[in-house]
Amino acid sequence: MRTIARILRFAVPYWPWFLVAQVSVFLSAGLILVVPRLLRDAIDRAILGGNPRLLLAVALGVIGVAVLRGLFLFTQRYAMEWVAQKSIYDLRNALYRHLQHLSFSFYDQARTGQLMSRAMQDVETVRRLFSFGVHNLLRNFLQYAGIVVILLLTHWKLALLSMATVPLAVHAIGIFGRRIRPAFTEIQQELAELTNVLQENITGVRVVKAFAREDHEIEKFRATNWTLLEKNLVAQRLMAFYHPYMDFLAAVGTALILWYGGREVILGRMSLGTLVAFNAYLMLLLEPMRWIGMLVSLVSRAIASGQRVLEILDTRPEIEDAPDAIELKSVQGHVRLEDVWFSYPDEPDVPVLKGITIDAPPGRTIALLGATGSGKSTVIHLVPRFYDVTRGRVTVDGIDVRRVKLESLRSHIGIVLQETFLFSTTIRENIAYGRPRATDEEIVAAARAARIHDFIMSLPQGYDTVVGERGVGLSGGQKQRVAIARALLMDPRVLILDDSTSSVDTETEYLIQEALRALMKGRTTFVIAQRLSTVKNADEIVVLDQGEVVQRGRHEDLLAQPGIYREIFELQLKPQEVSEAEAEARAESEAARERGRQPVATGGRQAVRPVAGGAADRSEAPEGRDG
Ligand SMILES: Nc1ncnc2c1ncn2[C@@H]1O[C@H](COP(=O)(O)OP(=O)(O)OP(=O)(O)O)[C@@H](O)[C@H]1O
Ligand SMILES: [Mg+2]
Repeated sequence: MRTIARILRFAVPYWPWFLVAQVSVFLSAGLILVVPRLLRDAIDRAILGGNPRLLLAVALGVIGVAVLRGLFLFTQRYAMEWVAQKSIYDLRNALYRHLQHLSFSFYDQARTGQLMSRAMQDVETVRRLFSFGVHNLLRNFLQYAGIVVILLLTHWKLALLSMATVPLAVHAIGIFGRRIRPAFTEIQQELAELTNVLQENITGVRVVKAFAREDHEIEKFRATNWTLLEKNLVAQRLMAFYHPYMDFLAAVGTALILWYGGREVILGRMSLGTLVAFNAYLMLLLEPMRWIGMLVSLVSRAIASGQRVLEILDTRPEIEDAPDAIELKSVQGHVRLEDVWFSYPDEPDVPVLKGITIDAPPGRTIALLGATGSGKSTVIHLVPRFYDVTRGRVTVDGIDVRRVKLESLRSHIGIVLQETFLFSTTIRENIAYGRPRATDEEIVAAARAARIHDFIMSLPQGYDTVVGERGVGLSGGQKQRVAIARALLMDPRVLILDDSTSSVDTETEYLIQEALRALMKGRTTFVIAQRLSTVKNADEIVVLDQGEVVQRGRHEDLLAQPGIYREIFELQLKPQEVSEAEAEARAESEAARERGRQPVATGGRQAVRPVAGGAADRSEAPEGRDG
């Protein structure tokens, strides 16, 4: 009941329409009670009394009632639907708004299909209660009460007799209600499960095909689908039993009326019309009884679904603005991690970061290095406060990130996440995602800096090219460069690049590095890259191992001492030295070819960039830092 009350609260703002609906309900319910009366008059006074003119009047009366009733039914239905649709519109928006504010940790554990199912199917189920349940409850109650009163007034003995089966009906409703609710909860769960299987399959379809697991996926879906079918059948069997049972009880009532009432008519103690009217009332009585069954199932469904929706609404975002959070207006970009310990919320006992201290003064570049799983991404996720530290603190310009407004904090941080995500819209909109009001020039400048402009221009629709879902249609490297452009357009004081060049070839990587070096200038940058050039240019290299800083310093210093860095250098970085020099040369000749092919599109700063020498020279070649 608490669930229902909370859900119904969404309808409160629309109470005037609700009132209109209820008045119409009242009137239409009242009107229908008139019909058996007319029937009685038709039989007793017109037919048996031999009065054809009265018969006509009664007939017209029936039509009149039908027309009026139709009018009220329309008003009732439309007004109530208005309330329902508006409330659900609000509920859906509230849910979506809430989902936007939930933290990373929530989504780490959430299953997309499950969430989608709750946001769509469960909300829809709740709507049905609003649309059909609420006013029908009143209508049927009125109708039921009205009929009972009329019956009692007409012939109380017959009335009591005809209602002899009511206790049985009430008993049936009780049992029905108790059984149907869990059945519906299970149906909604199974529906969500099915949505989840579908969603995961569609998202992962390439993996499915690559591993030729279609049959397995089909079977997985079929099995879930089958469970859903079974659960539905359980509920339907309950419903299917309920209706005939109610009909049976009605038949018993009719039989009792015929038997007892018929005798009364024969004995001349009751008119035939009254008997017919009585029977008609009994039929009308049946409607609310049937409806109560529907209502019980509607309410049960709405409770089951409502709980699932409210569960999301009740999840508090773990990361929220403090009540006294301050606006972070302009920042220098001095980022500090002070003795930071961190565990992911799902595994509070496993420290992923252990006492990390990093000082990144404004404009400096910090490179994070370490084996996979050593905690690099985790470190940088703490800066925009995707998660809160378990111990220690993260500060920007000396202010704890937990004390500032999230939006203002994040507006100063440009981030390229490890996994690139693009929206299925134009490339322009994707780049301008963080700054929708950016001018075309700014967008182009960002794209140029990310070395993706030429590619975009080579597409038939240029910046208006619509990319597929999650960026399908672009190569991994192209996607990453769009993501880099997106981060750069924010013109952030703090730039965070998580493996941002991992899926581009050495040649493109060289171009990006070149651009990034220029862009990193004046910005505090955290960069995670297994690339020699980035690492060499960093002001500080922080080497992580299992969540701990094991080495720190500049390239030359670290190289001079034994440790993980030297190992990584020997194994990964050193071999790049050669290929980087080659890549550089190739990139240059490629750029020259591009210039020849697309003089207009390419032109500009890139074209006049001086050709740098080897990898070693580059780090000391300030003239290379254009862009
Ligand atoms: N959302 C999460 N929930 C729980 N544990 C996580 C989560 N993300 C990462 N971890 C764990 O935290 C540890 C550090 O992960 P992290 O992603 O920071 O590593 P990384 O250094 O970025 O690795 P890679 O180089 O592969 O990107 C890993 O052991 C990982 O299993
Ligand atoms: Mg990572």
